[in-house]
Amino acid sequence: MQALTPLIIATRNPHKTMEIREMIATQYEVLDATNFSDWPEVEETGTTFLENATLKAVAISQCVDGIVLADDSGLIVDGLDGAPGVWSSSYGGEEGNHAKNNQRLLLEMTDVPEAKRSARFACTMVLAQGGRVLADFQGMVEGRILHDLSGVEGFGYDPLFAPLGYDRSFAELGSEIKNTLSHRAAALQQVIAWLSSGNPL
Ligand code: IMP
Repeated sequence: MQALTPLIIATRNPHKTMEIREMIATQYEVLDATNFSDWPEVEETGTTFLENATLKAVAISQCVDGIVLADDSGLIVDGLDGAPGVWSSSYGGEEGNHAKNNQRLLLEMTDVPEAKRSARFACTMVLAQGGRVLADFQGMVEGRILHDLSGVEGFGYDPLFAPLGYDRSFAELGSEIKNTLSHRAAALQQVIAWLSSGNPL
């Protein structure tokens, strides 16, 4: 059997790796921070998804051989003027604490009228190699913010986000459906098309 081409995901978030792996496991060997001992901490100091994804892709690709894929993503809520946006991961006051993030989101949404509960997940993916950016890609999924947490699958804001056309949250719908609709899936499809069209590999 032919060995799969490695694709290194610039993340310490096991959920992102898992989703990406589920979507492309037959085509690529998906690696992340857990496969490397000298993986640097990258500070996300940018003010856009593109800036942060670029910071991660460039920094990690300087330390490992091969193509690196960085994903920077977040939730944009209309009734909150676009918050939490780029700061989705620390919205509740503690980096990566999903329970606190969801708690704050529900609190901020208390007086937001139904029509303003529209929201979207956005994902920017950047490919880099040897410290050089190769390309960037954007994905988006429209939906709305629910009034209560529901479902146990996925991660982050999944229990509060119902994609357009569904009454259930991503956390209820599960990865099989999420991976056909999500912002990450939309960006990743473009990445795979780009890589398989003969670009750098
Ligand atoms: P990043 O690591 O800076 O890209 O932070 C992404 C943050 O956005 C996560 O910690 C989550 O809070 C949120 N997020 C991004 N993608 C998703 C998703 O697919 N489901 C739920 N929350 C997400």
